[in-house]
Amino acid sequence: MSRDTLTIIDNRTGQEYEIPIERDTIRGSELNKIKASPDGPGLRTFDVAIANTATCESRITYLDGEGGVLRYRGYPIEELAEQSSFLEVAYLLVKGHLPSASHFDMWQHNIKMHTLVHENVKHFIDGFRYDAHPMGILIGTVGALSTFYPDAKNIDDEESRRVQTRRLIAKIPTIAALAFRHSRGLSYVPPDNDLSYPGNFLSMLFKMTELKYRPDPVLERALDVLFILHADHEQNCSTTTARVVGSAHADPYSVVSAAAAALSGPRHGGASEDVVRMLHECGSVDKVPDLIKSVKAGERRLMGFGHRVYKNYDPRARIIKKIAYEVFEVTGKNPAIDVALELERIALEDDYFVERKLYPNVDFYSGTIYEAMGFQMEMFPVLFAIGRTAGWVAQWAEMLANQERIARPRQVYLGEDLRHYVPLGKREDRSEQETEITGPY
Ligand code: ACO
Repeated sequence: MSRDTLTIIDNRTGQEYEIPIERDTIRGSELNKIKASPDGPGLRTFDVAIANTATCESRITYLDGEGGVLRYRGYPIEELAEQSSFLEVAYLLVKGHLPSASHFDMWQHNIKMHTLVHENVKHFIDGFRYDAHPMGILIGTVGALSTFYPDAKNIDDEESRRVQTRRLIAKIPTIAALAFRHSRGLSYVPPDNDLSYPGNFLSMLFKMTELKYRPDPVLERALDVLFILHADHEQNCSTTTARVVGSAHADPYSVVSAAAAALSGPRHGGASEDVVRMLHECGSVDKVPDLIKSVKAGERRLMGFGHRVYKNYDPRARIIKKIAYEVFEVTGKNPAIDVALELERIALEDDYFVERKLYPNVDFYSGTIYEAMGFQMEMFPVLFAIGRTAGWVAQWAEMLANQERIARPRQVYLGEDLRHYVPLGKREDRSEQETEITGPY
């Protein structure tokens, strides 16, 4: 008779253990009971990069990487991208269900109430150099918001959590736009709450001397869908960062700032920037085989390709590819798309990519759209962060509601055994080889 358990025999002791299996998972704490001697340490798993360890129970996002399936709170990403709006998806992620019409009105109103930032935030941004990376500005400024809202540290207070959530979703586009205008040397544009969430963002970015900015409806919708597609992605690097920092009971601005810092890396959201850089470097379709050759030779990675979890086409990339053509109808075609399409065509037929199950990810096509809309590459991860903020705050709130303990992984210690301090004057110079082990600090 089959049982939902795992039987382990510890050959060091001959002892047998039966461990429950629940949802294809065993509890790490069960392994801890397995000991070579009664006083010895319990068994641990060694899982670098947390590649095969579930670190939380979550009800927010379902992802099947083999099947290429992504759902927020049970709703397929394709349906949400087709029919929903980013603010509605943000509500869904945070609250767990779609709003009624009246609750959605209230939610939109509550978000719009918080789109302004304190004047000192602007002065703060003025202090950055003209060529400061906008993602650095975003990370620093979001972190600094905790000093403007000291009540944010009351994470046990439900009302405080609610208001910080609204503030974060509302202010992220404002800060992103301030960073953009700062990089262009343009005066700051205050939020226009008559406009939609993406429409107001476009106004804060691109409004010049006109009295009222009227966003192009195609670009407004494209941006909204891009925010939806980026809104959450279960326990990715930045979301895990958010949950880990949040588990120490840091305030939510510090949580989101830390998550954005993780997102900025080129292996994560920073890849969007590097994809377009790579497409421009490649230059034209006829150079694509050379680029593929250098990737296969291990000289570089094909940015925007590959994913830790997706071993199939990223469903978000498929939607983004379609939006690209709608945007190009308005902006004119971004020639980088031809290079991207040829890269995808060759890569999907090539054994190197097929064997490793490397497919385009969310970042592969998004940059070509952003560039056509008038964003410089450095803004791409910032745009990613706007959408993902909804996911970060939802995951942070869930982590608190689950009363998770402080995140504290273990290590396999490979360092020195006990040794005793030798006074400075009595130490020998170490060889270069020995110094290289830990790096030249
Ligand atoms: N180009 C070429 N080869 C690749 C790529 C790539 N983009 N991605 C993975 N590989 C190869 C690796 O060299 C490795 O080959 P090997 O087995 O011969 O050594 C194999 O595929 C497995 O790669 P890992 O690095 O072990 O995969 P991992 O799951 O750790 O990394 C990651 C995932 C970081 C996304 C990786 O695919 C990558 O660097 N991609 C490019 C950057 C990128 O697009 N990042 C955005 C991801 S989506 C997001 O965060 C929003």
